[in-house]
Amino acid sequence: MALELNPFVSQSRKFPCVALPPMASLRSPKVCMAYTLNSRTKEVESIKKPFIPPRKVHVPVTHSMPPQKIEILKSMEDWAEQNILVHLKPVEKCWQPQDFLPDPTSYGFDEQVRELRERAKELPDDYLVVLVGDMITEEALPTYQTIMNSWDGVRDETGASPTPWAIWTRAWTAEENRHGDLLNKYLYLSGRVDMRQIEKTIQYLIGTGTDVRTENSPYLGFIYTSFQERATFISHGNTARHAKEHGELKLAQICGTIAADEKRHETAYTKIAEKLFEVDPNGTVLAFADMMRKKISMPAYLMYDGRDDNLFEHFSAIAQRLGVYTAKDYADILEFLVSRWRVEKLTGLSAEGNKARDYVCGLPPMIRRLEERAQGKAIQGPTIPFSWIFDRKVQL
Ligand SMILES: [Fe+2]
Ligand SMILES: [Fe+2]
Repeated sequence: MALELNPFVSQSRKFPCVALPPMASLRSPKVCMAYTLNSRTKEVESIKKPFIPPRKVHVPVTHSMPPQKIEILKSMEDWAEQNILVHLKPVEKCWQPQDFLPDPTSYGFDEQVRELRERAKELPDDYLVVLVGDMITEEALPTYQTIMNSWDGVRDETGASPTPWAIWTRAWTAEENRHGDLLNKYLYLSGRVDMRQIEKTIQYLIGTGTDVRTENSPYLGFIYTSFQERATFISHGNTARHAKEHGELKLAQICGTIAADEKRHETAYTKIAEKLFEVDPNGTVLAFADMMRKKISMPAYLMYDGRDDNLFEHFSAIAQRLGVYTAKDYADILEFLVSRWRVEKLTGLSAEGNKARDYVCGLPPMIRRLEERAQGKAIQGPTIPFSWIFDRKVQL
């Protein structure tokens, strides 16, 4: 999961703050720079096309995992079958968006929609912006499935491959697909948002893709997804809490139900990474450190609505201000993963592996210090219009 408020932001097209914890406050140029792409990072300007907004992406690094490691992933297939697929829910036991929405076949449909719209009237604009940003992130699902199918050794080779990795990826996608559907339909019925602008943003985003730098490596990939699922669990949990505070209990239930899915996904991905730590501790800790050096960029950070070149940064700044997803959450997630994978206790590593272990273990307190310093210097953000809510202005 940012304006013309401060000097940093005006530079952000040149140096997109893509890897920020969402978002190490835009009100602190100094901290932001600490997360900005480092000098070793080469960038390349993407070709401007009518369907792709002007953006910079990293020079792609591909197939960085040594080919012999593919065997490690293959050798984990039986284990994945027994230990990972159990975290999928049978379709017949899954909730569906319709369970939470007015039934268009019922006589009470009009009344149910009216009630939904009454309740949604209480939601403030800043909350709506965050909810829309979350929904758009979920709606770019085709991109995420594409990324997972770029990972060597676990990709779905045919589109219907019977390996447990491929079964997981398809079923995970199918579960995730309900998240965007449900939030989209809720927001449509609420009448509070500009659906056409939102739909344009989704089309731009899927057309643009994303650049999360997993380099065809499932090592990097499963660390990324572990982080990301926990991030979405936290963020949807917080939008649920806020909905409740605004008196919209049905929306609180919707966001809470989505958060529960994300938690289950987090459990599966952290288990896969845990297994990788068991069978290849050195390779996995190197991947963990590599991913954290590059920073975990949010999957939808290239979002664009045809107007705002810093849309994601603006959305993230509001998420940060409302406490839906913050730099502190970024540090907390990292700390959680370090502890979950018992990284501090890893032994028998190479010299490089020892360095990587020490780096990731020392990172959470460092991020916290930077964040605290940023908070101390925080100034009030400007107020800017969001096309998603008919250009009503919201403070960042
Ligand atoms: Fe999701
Ligand atoms: Fe998820």
